[in-house]
Amino acid sequence: MARGKPTILVGITGGIGAYKSCELVRLLQKRGFRVKVVMTEAATRFVTPLTFRTLTGEPVAVSLWADEPESKVHHISLAEEADVMAIVPCTANVMAKLAQGRADDMLTTTALATEAPLVIAPAMNTHMWRKETTRRNVEVLRARGAVFVEPGTGELACGDVGEGRLADVRIIANAIETEALRSRDLVGVHVLVTAGGTQEPIDPVRFIGNHSSGKTGFAIAEEAARRGARVSLITGPVSLPDPFNCEVVRVQTALQMRAAVLARFDTTDVVVMSAAVADFRPAAMSADKIKKGDAPEAIELERNPDILAELGERGSGVLLVGFAAETNEVVTNAQAKLEAKRVDLIVANDVSDPSMGFGTEHNKVYYVTADGVDETPVLGKRTIARDLLDRVAALLQSRKG
Ligand code: CTP
Repeated sequence: MARGKPTILVGITGGIGAYKSCELVRLLQKRGFRVKVVMTEAATRFVTPLTFRTLTGEPVAVSLWADEPESKVHHISLAEEADVMAIVPCTANVMAKLAQGRADDMLTTTALATEAPLVIAPAMNTHMWRKETTRRNVEVLRARGAVFVEPGTGELACGDVGEGRLADVRIIANAIETEALRSRDLVGVHVLVTAGGTQEPIDPVRFIGNHSSGKTGFAIAEEAARRGARVSLITGPVSLPDPFNCEVVRVQTALQMRAAVLARFDTTDVVVMSAAVADFRPAAMSADKIKKGDAPEAIELERNPDILAELGERGSGVLLVGFAAETNEVVTNAQAKLEAKRVDLIVANDVSDPSMGFGTEHNKVYYVTADGVDETPVLGKRTIARDLLDRVAALLQSRKG
């Protein structure tokens, strides 16, 4: 990701709306962005690369093969330079390719290679836009974090009247600008995220654990890194790969998680405790596997330290975010935790609904602060991560101001 003037990579695909991208490029430049353009072959049938080269003063990428050789592979350098990639207009075909992760030209290869947020402004015939297969592709991309600027309704180039017309370029520019600001709003901030559940060993093969998949915490860490934060992710055993650009510390027990958190706390600005920390551990771990015949009648348990409460007690000025998984009285219980653990924000959710929460892709949460409660609709975990970090960034900003 470039520093200095933010770079918007505008991807243009083959639809009549491509001519409006000229205006979009101008608008983005007026708003202070550096703009680079990548086009599909089909897009060049509608507007020439020369138009965009003239508007931007930058080379326009079209083919994976024909461009002038650069020091770095071109689609990778474009992908890395972009603060935001915006595909305007995006055809049904390119959206399908993006949803599948295909990379058969410069535009789709760059889209797959970039870690930058993706803004998609679709434009197509009404019937194509409404087809179930297109709807599914939109949902797949949304769940991965893409931001959609929905098409408008009106007369289409094909003569039909209906939904499918490229959205107003000013609305598209606003969405791009919001993502560009987001992509840097945590620069200089050290965010510590805990994720997953801890495992408290009974013997070398057995443990007390819980259902936490770690997905929410990993999504928060990834999103924070994407927005420029230095991220430390401390996670219990989960089957998720390391998120890009994060320090990842894998631990097993609550005591190990506590030690890893405390070791980093002095340099931390924000702690997001999304881990499901086991409240109890077996008082003693058997060194050898316990045989059926020798099984004890009961396992004696010992309290684990409450990591979040311990951080709250320090009153250090670090912004503390806790989670509360509840089955009843969700908001009341969360408010009690907010006070008891002296944290700034509690993200509460109802785990009594099996379609949400642990292990699922979706959740509905309540943000509880001293100032009140906000309830969200059912959202993907990526969207929750983004929404939560918007709130964290705003809280950090209000402390500064
Ligand atoms: N937490 C923690 N250390 C613990 C237990 C919980 O840091 N030993 C943190 C969790 O990461 C979460 C918040 O505290 O951010 C709330 O955890 P939860 O288990 O829901 O609350 P408890 O305080 O343990 O209360 P209860 O189990 O009675 O609901």
